[in-house]
Formats: sequence, structure tokens, C-alpha cells
Amino acid sequence: MTNASELMRHQVAEGLGIPRDLYLSEEVFNQEMEAIFGTSWIYAGHVSQLAEPGSYLTVESGKESVIVARTREGSLAANFNVCRHRGARLVDEGCGVTRRFVCPYHQWGYDLDGSLKGAPKMPETFDRSQYGLTSVHVKTWQGFIFVNLAESPTRDLEDMLSIGEEGLAPFDLASARVAHTITYEISANWKLVWENAQECYHCGANHPEFLSAVDIREITSDGPVVCEIPPGYDPVVKTARFPLKAGATSLTVGGQPASARMLGQFAEGLEPYTASVHIKPTFALVACPDYAMVLRDEPISLDKTRVTASWLVHKDAEESVDYDLANLIRVWDETNKQDWALCERTQKGVQSRAFVAGPLSYEETSVVDFHRAYEGWLQAAGL
Ligand code: FES
Ligand SMILES: [Fe+2]
Repeated sequence: MTNASELMRHQVAEGLGIPRDLYLSEEVFNQEMEAIFGTSWIYAGHVSQLAEPGSYLTVESGKESVIVARTREGSLAANFNVCRHRGARLVDEGCGVTRRFVCPYHQWGYDLDGSLKGAPKMPETFDRSQYGLTSVHVKTWQGFIFVNLAESPTRDLEDMLSIGEEGLAPFDLASARVAHTITYEISANWKLVWENAQECYHCGANHPEFLSAVDIREITSDGPVVCEIPPGYDPVVKTARFPLKAGATSLTVGGQPASARMLGQFAEGLEPYTASVHIKPTFALVACPDYAMVLRDEPISLDKTRVTASWLVHKDAEESVDYDLANLIRVWDETNKQDWALCERTQKGVQSRAFVAGPLSYEETSVVDFHRAYEGWLQAAGL
């Protein structure tokens, strides 16, 4: 059989989608977890979730788990969630605040930065300094925390994200706070979830709430799917703006701001606009003048994907005073659920022996970007 990256190169050149086998093979899924999620910058959370010293959260990725913690000195430390004694998972999945991480098995205790502080009943010759947790690369960009499980990440995060910098900076999302989080479990392969998020070919027929604020005619592209790769093109990062309808100033049902506290420079009268940044394979952000929504994608198994959505508001915005939570989350919660239903419907279809990847529309050029990113990851891993 042709290898997976060659297969994808062929599909892209022919303007076709991902072949059935790449959605359905356990072997491919396991390879993806290593080759893609094991080497990419993975979205962990927002800085406001780790505001105080001792606060931590875990990031799950396949069989791996990482603890990201705020140290007493105020920096962020990321370490594998694996005890250096006999390997027990150190803390349970989730978040919390602690003074140190104590392994439930034999009580080895680690400082917030991962250094080993206590190990009961070990011989005198035991050198604690040699048994700190295994560190993981961690970086923050515009208030969003990313980790990379690779020993030496091949890509520089700042470099990758320089294109999103200018459009997003006025929102000052580093000073925002998470107002609400919803975790969705989707019965679909993670690639179907990404493909869905790339295009608005499906929006007109499926997203009434979204369309009440967005001018869909402005989103659609009208050229053929482009197969040449322009110089400097990076299929992993995508920035976009959602054109709002005349009179709309935020992406909400009806187009009016959901929060009375505007973000960043919008509080000083900056002309309203929306910005979106995707960092494949785990991060999708939409920023509006009054709130932002960020998605974190996490493959659970071949046909299950967990997506965590967080809504960010101005740090001083108060629920029920400055915003009504139901109104704040409505447009994206509804749109997300509509999207997941489409993904699950597609999962059912691609499982059929009748499925053969079909031709893409010229409104799906960003789906092709996803396919190029996918092909690039496979190729880099020799797959
Ligand atoms: S496995 Fe953690 S202390 Fe023994
Ligand atoms: Fe959608």
C-alpha cells in the first residue's frame, strides 16, 4: 500500500477528501497520537486558570498526561504526570490548588516546579535531585498556554503565531478570565471535527444562531481549490475574521454584545471586529469585542473526540450584572452542538463500505489546508 502521506498528497492534488482507511484504522490512530499530538504545540488552558501560585491543571493527550502548575515564583512549570518512583499517575485529571504534588502510592512529594522534595525511607545514598519529574516544554501566547511533549520541538511557537499576533492583540485576551467551560464528547474521529471547523459550506443550512450575526456571503470564497502552495504558507496556523452583518457588533444571537465590559482596546472605542485563530491540532479561538470562545480538541479514541469550550470575558465582568451567562454562551454552544451532530453523522457514513472520499467544493479551501497539515505531519514522521 502507498504510505499515508503519499495517499494524502494524491488526495490533495486531486481535490479529494481523506480516504476511508485513515478514519477507521486503529493503527493509524495510534500513529497519529505519537506523530502529531506527540510533537505539536498542544493547547493546555488560559493563564487565568492558573492565576495563583500552586494552581495547576492537567492536559491529557492519548496515553500521556501533563501537569501545568504556577510556581511560587510566578512562572509556569509543565511536567509529565508520572511519579519517578514506580511510575504511578501523580494527580488525577482535572485542576486544583496545592502546595506540592504527593504521589498517593508511596508518598514521594514533588514541588510545584517538579523537583523531588520528599521520598520516605530511601537509603542515605539516594540523591533526590536526580529524581525530579520529567519536564515538558511550555509556552504562553496571548494568554493561552501550550505544551509540547517532544524532547526538542521542531517548531517555534512564537514564530508560528506571528501571523495571528496583530489581529488578536487588541482583544488583550491575556487579561481576560474564563467565565464558563463546557466539555463535549463527540462520537467522531478527530479529523472529522477539524474538517468541520474549517469550512462554512455547511453554515447556511445548519447554523441559524450563527447566521443571525454573521454575513455569510462575505465568508464564502469563490475560486477553485488551489493546489499550488504559496511561499511562507503554513497549513498548521489559520487566522480569519468573521464578517458581521450590518449593525452587528459582536458574534451573538442578534449581533449585540453579550457582555457590557468590552475587551482590551474595544473598551476605548476600537471599531468592532472578530478574529479567529486555529492552531492545529488542538486550538480554535474566536474573539469578539466583548467575549471570546476557545476550543481545545482532544482525541479520545478512533471514533471519540473530546472538545472543551471555554468562554472568556473581561476580568472584571460580573455574571448577571455585566452579562447573562445563557446569552453569552448561546451562539457557540448551539453552533458547536450543531457541528458535533454533523461530525457524528459523517462518522456513521465514513464507516460504511460504500464511502469513498468525494470531491471538495471551492468553499472548502481551508479543509484542504487541514489536509496539507495532516499530510505534513505524516510525512515528517515517515508515515
Ligand atoms: S509510585 Fe509514586 S511514590 Fe511510589
Ligand atoms: Fe459549523
